[in-house]
Amino acid sequence: MIPDSVRSDFPALGQQVHGHPLVYLDNAATTLKSQSVIDAINLHYQKESANVHRGVHFLSEQGTVKYEETRHTVQKFINALSEREIIFTKGTTESINLVAQCLGQQVLKEGDEILLSTMEHHSNIVPWQLVAEKTGAVIKVVPITDSGEIELEAYSQLLNEKTKIVSISYISNTLGSINPIKEMIELAHEKGALFVVDAAQAMAHIPVDVVDLDCDFLAFSAHKMFGPTGVGVLYGKESLLESMPPYQGGGAMIETVTFEKTTYNQLPEKFEAGTPHIAGVIALKDCIDYIQKVGLENIAEKEDQLLDYATQRLNMISGLKLIGTAKKKSAVISFTLEGAHPHDLGTLLDQQGIAIRTGHHCTQPLMKRFGITATARASFSFYNTKEEVDKLVDGIRKAQELL
Ligand SMILES: Cc1ncc(COP(=O)(O)O)c(C=O)c1O
Repeated sequence: MIPDSVRSDFPALGQQVHGHPLVYLDNAATTLKSQSVIDAINLHYQKESANVHRGVHFLSEQGTVKYEETRHTVQKFINALSEREIIFTKGTTESINLVAQCLGQQVLKEGDEILLSTMEHHSNIVPWQLVAEKTGAVIKVVPITDSGEIELEAYSQLLNEKTKIVSISYISNTLGSINPIKEMIELAHEKGALFVVDAAQAMAHIPVDVVDLDCDFLAFSAHKMFGPTGVGVLYGKESLLESMPPYQGGGAMIETVTFEKTTYNQLPEKFEAGTPHIAGVIALKDCIDYIQKVGLENIAEKEDQLLDYATQRLNMISGLKLIGTAKKKSAVISFTLEGAHPHDLGTLLDQQGIAIRTGHHCTQPLMKRFGITATARASFSFYNTKEEVDKLVDGIRKAQELL
């Protein structure tokens, strides 16, 4: 049970927008930030600012300890076997680009296949296209059903000895579908393919255990888990990360440099060139501590209740069509409304203080699959309430009258 008092942990929820209390239903784009995370960032810049890994002075050493504490916290949070398997990046997008560039160029040759699904975010499509262009590899796409579920039979048939990499989202940012990732990983491994999980939409909603999943790589962003933008994680199995060439060159990723030859640092520094987002990484620990304090089970329970209630109420609006009705779903609801362009609807809701997202949600191939160009999307977090669902429904009815 999550008490409503939890809302006071998120200062943004206390504000008015266009004269109405903010109803924030754009959590799949980015979550609000908890006070503990804001405090951690403030503290860093106010008193503890220093570069990490290079200094012998107090502040630098303190910063390094805190930075590495986050790595330890992430390792425990996703149950990775070693801290060396945790690479800090700018976010999911950079994590996937890193794998695509470093692993892709190493394992892919002409005619090899990369398997994605129709529901992938552009961040899990374009990096693979870039590496496919360079290597001559081919992208294959797993189809989905009308309700927005992976077609497992088709997936099994698409997997073959040419499939070298499979990269699939754990949870779709547009449909909310929770994909049967564990089963898919097992099937991929049977064919000798490596599996990358885009966990951007999973981390703040369901427990993720990389050993249990047996995924080879997993990517996520702090800003979708109540943390800062510009920070994320790439998890990779140590042996794979060991075998991959560095992503970028620069400070911290080297062991020795001469103009003739450079040798590289060990993991994880090999993949962390340059000064990182130190305050952001430090604050990521606070995000995880916060999520664990609230409890992922409690979060899932509350979000499931909100999903059920919102689905029921939205279904009663005439002309409203849900896009994505998978049996296993997280609290993301995409819909279209007869006679209303999603952007117009979004603007009218905004005037009532209700923040939703409209557009293709960086999933244009998915839009094409459903024969549409855009949806309206309400995405929930545990701090949302049934009253806010009611406001959304009333807001849509009002907008419907106006349009
Ligand atoms: C499923 C999914 N993958 C990848 C991304 C990209 O994340 P970021 O922009 O934080 O790198 C997002 C962001 O919305 C997403 O929802």
